[in-house]
Amino acid sequence: MEILKPKLTVKNLVKTYDKKEILKGLSFDLFEGEFLSVIGPSGCGKTTLLRILIGLEKADSGEIIKNGQDISSMPSSQRGMGIVFQNYALFPNMTVLQNVEYALKIHKETAATARQTALKTLEQIGLSDQLNKKPSQLSGGQQQRVAIARTLAMNPDIILLDEPISALDATNREIMKTELKAIQKKFNATMLLITHDQEEAFFLSDRIVVMSNGVIEQIDTPANIYSHPANEYVNSFVVEQLNKKYESLLRYMGKTNGDANE
Ligand SMILES: Nc1ncnc2c1ncn2[C@@H]1O[C@H](COP(=O)(O)OP(=O)(O)OP(=O)(O)O)[C@@H](O)[C@H]1O
Ligand SMILES: [Mg+2]
Repeated sequence: MEILKPKLTVKNLVKTYDKKEILKGLSFDLFEGEFLSVIGPSGCGKTTLLRILIGLEKADSGEIIKNGQDISSMPSSQRGMGIVFQNYALFPNMTVLQNVEYALKIHKETAATARQTALKTLEQIGLSDQLNKKPSQLSGGQQQRVAIARTLAMNPDIILLDEPISALDATNREIMKTELKAIQKKFNATMLLITHDQEEAFFLSDRIVVMSNGVIEQIDTPANIYSHPANEYVNSFVVEQLNKKYESLLRYMGKTNGDANE
């Protein structure tokens, strides 16, 4: 894939909570049309990074440059980014259509066409037959698609996803993975996905940011990370984990084929 200019540049981002440095000077680029994953163990600062990028949290120091402009102190609503949270955060008392319409109606630039935009986006996401259902009447995967539709409808130029797949069961996870990729193509979106699932990151991403506690260990394509892990941490957290997954899958398939040796 031909990638040209950085859409977002993060420079030396530092964040401290209770005197503990959670982000220790993160720097990376996100390119136009890129699917970038940030992978790292629980508590390493992934959600903190996203919250800072979208403006729900302020960094102690560092810069966030979007399309050449420093947006570090801009309010969330003006950053042009959309976020999909892990728990969907849908309004339980609203229908699917109302959930997607809600934010569109609030902003005066999108209010007049809110219904039309919501319907179109829901159609593109394949939810046209669920418009009048409440979230509780939908499967986990469908709820997740509503959450994604709600974000896409606002036409953000960067979409941040905080472990959007991990709450789903195995089958829905596979479906959603394929759909996320299709959605990115269809909307030509620039996406930053947070995950702690190595396989998910490898399947979806143009590049992967491997994080440990508050620092970036490696940024590269899945193939390069796999063949040239930057250090022992990346090797054990990414490469060995992937290998382990596939070994156990292969062993499992061996068993189901009637191989009783073990
Ligand atoms: N508002 C807060 N106040 C104090 N500490 C916080 C706050 N938010 C996060 N932390 C701490 O910062 C660290 C990183 O948290 P963060 O939520 O970014 O991790 P994460 O990488 O998203 O983990 P997970 O994979 O479990 O979601 C944790 O030690 C957490 O306890
Ligand atoms: Mg998190």
